[in-house]
Amino acid sequence: MTHAVRLSRGLIDQACPSWRVYLCALPCVWSSFSLSLFCVRFYMALFETASFRRFRRHKAIRPNERSALAKSTQSDLSRLVRTSDPAVRKAFDVEMQSFSKLHARYLAEKENREQLDWNRIKSPNDKQVIPYSHLPQITGPEALSKLAVLKVNGGLGTSMGISGAKSALEVKDGMTFLDLIVQQVEYLNKTHKVDVPLILMTSFNTHDDTLRIIKKYVSQRISITTFNQSRYPRIWKETLQPCPKHALDDKKHWYPPGHGDLYESLVHTGVLDRLLAEGKEYLFISNSDNLGAVVDQRILQHMIDSDAEFLMEVTDKTKADVKGGTLIEYDSSMRLLEIAQVPPDHVDDFKSVRKFKIFNTNNLWINLKALKRIMNGGGMDLDIIVNPKMTDNGQAVIQLETAAGAAIKHFNNAHGINVPRSRFLPVKSCSDLLLIRSDIYSLQNGRLDMSESRMFGSVPVIKLGDHFKKITEFQPRFKKIPNIIDLDHLTVTGDVHFGRGVTLRGTVIVVANEGQRIDIPDGCVLENRLVSGNLNMTEL
Ligand SMILES: *[C@@H]1O[C@H](CO)[C@@H](O)[C@H](O)[C@H]1NC(C)=O
Ligand SMILES: *[C@@H]1O[C@H](CO)[C@@H](O)[C@H](O)[C@H]1NC(C)=O
Ligand SMILES: *[C@@H]1O[C@H](CO)[C@@H](O)[C@H](O)[C@H]1NC(C)=O
Repeated sequence: MTHAVRLSRGLIDQACPSWRVYLCALPCVWSSFSLSLFCVRFYMALFETASFRRFRRHKAIRPNERSALAKSTQSDLSRLVRTSDPAVRKAFDVEMQSFSKLHARYLAEKENREQLDWNRIKSPNDKQVIPYSHLPQITGPEALSKLAVLKVNGGLGTSMGISGAKSALEVKDGMTFLDLIVQQVEYLNKTHKVDVPLILMTSFNTHDDTLRIIKKYVSQRISITTFNQSRYPRIWKETLQPCPKHALDDKKHWYPPGHGDLYESLVHTGVLDRLLAEGKEYLFISNSDNLGAVVDQRILQHMIDSDAEFLMEVTDKTKADVKGGTLIEYDSSMRLLEIAQVPPDHVDDFKSVRKFKIFNTNNLWINLKALKRIMNGGGMDLDIIVNPKMTDNGQAVIQLETAAGAAIKHFNNAHGINVPRSRFLPVKSCSDLLLIRSDIYSLQNGRLDMSESRMFGSVPVIKLGDHFKKITEFQPRFKKIPNIIDLDHLTVTGDVHFGRGVTLRGTVIVVANEGQRIDIPDGCVLENRLVSGNLNMTEL
């Protein structure tokens, strides 16, 4: 396998868009079981390396180069600010100043090439990551009156082939992520007779879609606050200078700088001060595509009891989440370690389930007064994640981003809570969507409940190939989502279509070779089967 991985890095470099198809097609030509399984593994290994491309490091710069670059970036940004509409110039200027700081920090890091000292990394101890089962039981809903819920809603559904905001995707029973979130908060409000406000952080990419969806709640007595996160200029990879020349320049020159931006944006938009003025002290933050991130009163109570200014929900790593950020102790403080920060020769250590047992779910609990104190006292220096991109016309650009969890190092008594897996239910791909839409989950007041008929409470591993990658290709391939209550593992590659009332059990692998199409007929039951070629079924 190591050999295959090394080989693929070279191939990826040539940026052949359909390399995966070619490589997978080769071993698939022989459709004996062992070879097909090999092909599936091979394909998975290749897929993994592809996502590492973005983390490749860039060459260092010299000190005199840096000050010249910093100066010309400053004047570029001042020029940009002068092109903006006077009515919004002040806010735009503040935004560009924040970007300028981030950019300067990036240049300084490039000059110093400071790398994490791997030997100083320690695994967190029992006090630094507390098991959920040790948290107190709840006696009353009082703490909820000081809570607000924030959903990070800035993401596009590009990876699933969705053109707009991902949270506008219908996930289950005709309801979008946003609909489910609203239902969750509504239910919380109603059952405990409290007023927990819902706040959505949108980006310039998702603002309009979000407003369109939440419009229908305006008539009801629900108040939802939305605010825009920052809009930063992309920089050219070659010169490291800002791409846009005018404040109104095309969307493609700008980007929302990751969820780490939420702290700055809470301050700049005045939302932080408003929450504090309303008597809110705690903020529960999560990604809008994590359907498991519902308000948990035991965690809230623990936060109050332990005087923690910041809690990060982590959960046990499985082989499927080896790339998630993890909590570490570094220089005697808690830190978030993301794969982008890991020196290349330690990436395998990082991915090891044994060494780093947990990963960050991005469900975060924050003390708002502490946040105010930190932002007033000079703000945060969150680790920079360099995200290289290609523009539509093939020019290499860079986005400087930050992650919300990295803020943990700035707060007192910050620690992790090891929560059950059910609190991490993200929809990142159509494979995830198949799972969510299946009979394994049902909706209860906006939250997903796992069916009681599911043995052992674990979910099946589902791997759908490229033909299922985009939502527009995924949907027509299922007349109806199969019954998968008793499924352990499903792998599907190639041009495969599922009929109505199909049941999948145990391990099922369906491989349609290039040029072939497989139709799983209506009512078909597949249990421990490998299907390949022209619907030729072999018992596993
Ligand atoms: C948020 O961004 C959208 C899209 O760019 C814009 O139309 C809207 O006016 C912004 N809202 C605020 C409050 O700045
Ligand atoms: C929660 O309840 C309060 C007061 O009853 C209401 O103002 C708010 O809009 C509610 N939010 C949701 C999402 O139901
Ligand atoms: C199914 O595959 C087996 C083994 O490759 C072959 O002997 C058999 O003829 C095939 N059956 C059909 C219906 O294609």
